[in-house]
Amino acid sequence: MIASERPIVAICRLLPAAGRDELAVAYDVREGGRGAGAEQWRELVAGASAIVADPTVPIDRDLLEAAGPDLRIVANFAVGYDNVDLDACTRRGVAVTNTPDVLTNATAELALALTLEAARGLGFAEREVRAGRWQGWSPDGYVGTELSGASFGIVGMGRIGRRYAELVRPMAGEVVYSAPTVKHDAEDATGARHIELDEMFERAAVISLHVPATPRTSGLIGEPELRAMREDAILVNTARGALVEEAALVRALHEGWIAAAGLDVYEAEPSISAELLAAPNCVLLPHIGSATKRARDGMAILVAHNVRAALEGERLPNRVA
Ligand code: DGY
Repeated sequence: MIASERPIVAICRLLPAAGRDELAVAYDVREGGRGAGAEQWRELVAGASAIVADPTVPIDRDLLEAAGPDLRIVANFAVGYDNVDLDACTRRGVAVTNTPDVLTNATAELALALTLEAARGLGFAEREVRAGRWQGWSPDGYVGTELSGASFGIVGMGRIGRRYAELVRPMAGEVVYSAPTVKHDAEDATGARHIELDEMFERAAVISLHVPATPRTSGLIGEPELRAMREDAILVNTARGALVEEAALVRALHEGWIAAAGLDVYEAEPSISAELLAAPNCVLLPHIGSATKRARDGMAILVAHNVRAALEGERLPNRVA
């Protein structure tokens, strides 16, 4: 790589132009591209002052070492940052930032879409139409579940959980949530009521997950939790695959412990087990919670602002470590 006069910003994969163009004005921007992998990243980050990562890029000690002593910031193009080894960054004096707020609506809207899609079996019904298997209207054809008046359970009442609560409130019979602490402002704004997770499993017809992936939340929904849910429950996950034990979910769907699931995230993305692909009453999306033009541009702009702040010695707008 040719030595650079300007600070190097290494974008491990891609960054939308809304952020990349701003960075390119002041810095030497290097982009790995959509298909870049571990080998390219090690080369790409050498000598960098900033690394731009995303949920598919593990930022570990080795990559930080490959970057070298100029590295000041890892700016993650996501609100979640479970791909980043925060301790390793802190030990090297490297700041870590994320992209909150700008993707809240997009992700909550996708969770709502998945909820309705799973409740009415839309994925299956659409596949039937496209495959030419639809025989015409029938009294017992493609009968799903109606959610008006239902009990909606939200696990995690952060920004996205709260927005989901606002969106479902007009149709919900009740909205309940679990979180480590009672969120009075969210309760006032959404009418949601704090309950323990065990109680939520007993009463909610929809359970939507909105907590980050941490050692504490890993495997949060496994066999005991799925068995504790109502038989007509719909599980929705737009947060992180690590929250749900997929093998247990597959059994739950096959054996009817719950009615349906809507998933946007998986344990080992992008691979999805054959068993999950074949599971009944399951809508599967390719991790697109934040995939709107508005959200992705907003995320790119936040990345650029955080990188610029770090490299100009200013306060970081979205520092998480
Ligand atoms: C996030 O921001 O954490 C999302 O998963 C990326 O779409």
